[in-house]
Amino acid sequence: MDTMTLTKAGGALCGALLVFLLGGWAAEELYHVGTEAHGDEEVAMGYRIEVAEAGTGGDAASAEPEVPFEEVFVNASASEGEKLWRQCGSCHKLEDGANATGPYLHGVVGRPIASAAGYSYSDALAGKDAAWTPEELQAFLLNPKEYAPGTKMAYRGMSDVEDRANIIAYLATQGG
Ligand code: HEC
Repeated sequence: MDTMTLTKAGGALCGALLVFLLGGWAAEELYHVGTEAHGDEEVAMGYRIEVAEAGTGGDAASAEPEVPFEEVFVNASASEGEKLWRQCGSCHKLEDGANATGPYLHGVVGRPIASAAGYSYSDALAGKDAAWTPEELQAFLLNPKEYAPGTKMAYRGMSDVEDRANIIAYLATQGG
């Protein structure tokens, strides 16, 4: 960049700033004319626009695409989750002991993985030595095949973190 280009760029910037300042001043004048009509009482004209704070601490440029699951789960809604149940109901039943294409999901939240009586699990789930905490469940529901490669649950996954939190909140109300 040579000096001339820089000078021009600087000039353009100053010009833009001036227009901006003048515009703001003009708006201010108009605003005052508007309020004066109402006597002494200050009448707020216009709306306050709340601007969301950009990123709390750390690198503002790398914006998180999603709120962490735990935070969403705190405010999860079982009744919203119930509306999502139809995505599961074709393969699962909620009644205790009622296995279908998939194992019964009665009391599944907190239940050890692959422990529904009388259900024949894939090795992918049978080999897991953990319990279905909300955290484990949400990881499985996000992407069953990635969580448990070889699982026979033919479900593509639930990408929305709020949906996952809500369906788990609903499942938590179903026995235990
Ligand atoms: C197309 C049929 C199908 C759909 C739809 C489906 N599942 Fe499944 N699900 C299965 C099968 C089959 C298994 C057993 C997987 C295995 O053994 O690998 C399973 C396993 C599970 C397990 C593990 C249970 C245990 O006892 O360890 C959970 C939890 C589960 N499903 C939840 C859900 C939820 C919640 C939905 C809806 C969002 C859903 N599934 C949708 C077929 C399905």
